[in-house]
Amino acid sequence: MKKFYLTTPIYYVNAKPHIGHAYTTLAADVLARYQKKTNPDAEIFFLTGTDEHGTKIAQAAQKSGQSEQAFCDSVSGEFQEAWKKLEIDYDYFIRTTSKAHKNFASDILVKLKEKGYLVEDSYKGYYCAGCEAFKNKRELEKGNICPDHKTKCEFISEKAWFFKLSEFENKVRDLIERDEIQILPIERKHEVLGFLKQGLANVAVSRQKVEWGIPLPWDKSQTIYVWIEALLNYLSALEINHKENLWPADLHLMSKDILRFHSVIWPALLLALEKELPKKIFVHGYFTINGQKMSKTIGNVISPDELVKQYGADAARYLILTEVVFGADGDISLEKLDKRYNSELADNLGNLLNRTLAMISKYNLEKPDNWRPELEIEIKKEISEFNFQAAGNHIFEFIAKANQKIDKTKPWEMFKLGKKAELENLFFDPQEGILSVLIAVAKAIDIFMPSTSKKILVQIESGKPKPLFEKIK
Ligand code: MSP
Repeated sequence: MKKFYLTTPIYYVNAKPHIGHAYTTLAADVLARYQKKTNPDAEIFFLTGTDEHGTKIAQAAQKSGQSEQAFCDSVSGEFQEAWKKLEIDYDYFIRTTSKAHKNFASDILVKLKEKGYLVEDSYKGYYCAGCEAFKNKRELEKGNICPDHKTKCEFISEKAWFFKLSEFENKVRDLIERDEIQILPIERKHEVLGFLKQGLANVAVSRQKVEWGIPLPWDKSQTIYVWIEALLNYLSALEINHKENLWPADLHLMSKDILRFHSVIWPALLLALEKELPKKIFVHGYFTINGQKMSKTIGNVISPDELVKQYGADAARYLILTEVVFGADGDISLEKLDKRYNSELADNLGNLLNRTLAMISKYNLEKPDNWRPELEIEIKKEISEFNFQAAGNHIFEFIAKANQKIDKTKPWEMFKLGKKAELENLFFDPQEGILSVLIAVAKAIDIFMPSTSKKILVQIESGKPKPLFEKIK
C-alpha cells in the first residue's frame, strides 16, 4: 500500500495560536496537498492537534478563572478555528484530553512497565514549565533562567517513574547515523548526534505533583509526564481512526525547540514498544520579531487571524510559507509582508490575469478549436527539498516573464496594426502563450493558494476579470 503519514507537533493550549504554529501547520498542509495531488492512489494522512495537559496549562486555566477542561476546550477550539480560516485541510485533529487518547496513553505506560522498562526513583532538579521539561543546571542561564522562555525554573524534588532511556543510547545513535531516521536539515542531525555524545540519563515518565494529567494506572499518586503522552499522540491518533496500518510516520515536522524529544526519547520509546521508527524529521527555524523568538510566553506574537484579515487566507498562506527558507530562522514584519503582497500578488499575479483577460476580450481574440494548454510548471525538486520559497520563486518567475513579454511585445500596438494572428499566438500558444502560463500557474499554486487557483481558472473560463488581490495602501 502506498501511503504518507505526516504530522505537526500538537500545540500547547496555554495561549492562542500564533503564526509560528501556523507556519508548521501550513507547511504540513502544503506537503499533504502536494502528496494528494501527485499520488492520487496513495493514502495520505495529515495529523495535527493540541497538547492539553501539564503544569503550564493548569496555571493558564487557573488564571482565566475556568476549569482546566473548559479552558482547553476553548483554546483548542481557537486552534481549530484558526486552521479553518487558513484553509488547512488536516485529516484528523487530536486532543490529548480526549478519552481515547487518555486510554491509549495509559495502556502504553502499562505495556512499558510490563516489559520492564520503567523503574521507580526520585527526581531532584530544575523544571521549566514553559518547556515542560526537566533542565540540567548547565543548560540554564544565571539565576536558573530558561534561555528559551526567560523565566525562572522551579527546583523540584519528587518521586517519579523513569523510563530506561540510557539502554537505548547506542541503538538510537546508530539509527540516526545511518539515516534510518533521517533528520533534516543535516546540521540538525549533527546537533542530535553531538547531544547523544554527552550520554543519556533515564527520563521521568510521570509527575507527582501535577494533577492536570493522565493518572498512572498502577500508581494514582502520579500522572503521566506531559511530553511522554504528547509523543504518543502520533500513535493514538491512528488507533482512534483505525489507521494503525499507516504507521510508521513518513514525516514529523517541527521546529528546533522540540527536536530532542522527537529524535531521542521518541525513537527509544518506539524501540521499547517494538514499533517501527519514523522515517523523517524535518526541523524548520524560528520566526523571530526583532531577532527574538516569537513566543506566547514572551508575548511578541502575530496571530494568524491578523494575517488573514490583512491579506485573506490564500495570500497569508503563501506569504508565510515563502518568507524565509524553510529550515532557517527569519525575522517577520508586517511591513515586509505588505510589500510582498503588493508586488508579488497584486501587481504581478493579479495584474497578469486581469490585463490578459481584458485584452483577450477587448481584442476579440478566440482560442483555436480544441485548444489545449501544454505548459506544466514542475516544483517536484523544490518540494522534495522542503524549499517552499524556491517553489514559490519558480512559479513566480513564469508570472514575471509573462508580464515582461506583454510589456515588450505591446499587444495594444499589435491590435492597432491588425496583427490578429500574432496576438492569438501571444496569448494562446500551448507552451508559451500568456493564457497557457496562467493556467499552468493556477495549477501549480493550488497547494499554496487553493482558492486563488480556482478563481483564476473560473475567470479564465468565463473570460471576465475580477481583481484577485486588492492592493494594500
Ligand atoms: N506541545 C509541544 C509539542 C508536542 S509534540 C508531540 C509543544 N507545543 S508548542 O505549542 O510549544 O509548539 C511548538 C512548535 O510550534 C514548534 O516546534 C514549531 O513547530 C511551532 N512554533 C512555535 N513557535 C514558533 C516560532 N516562533 N517559529 C516557528 N515555529 C514555531 O512544543
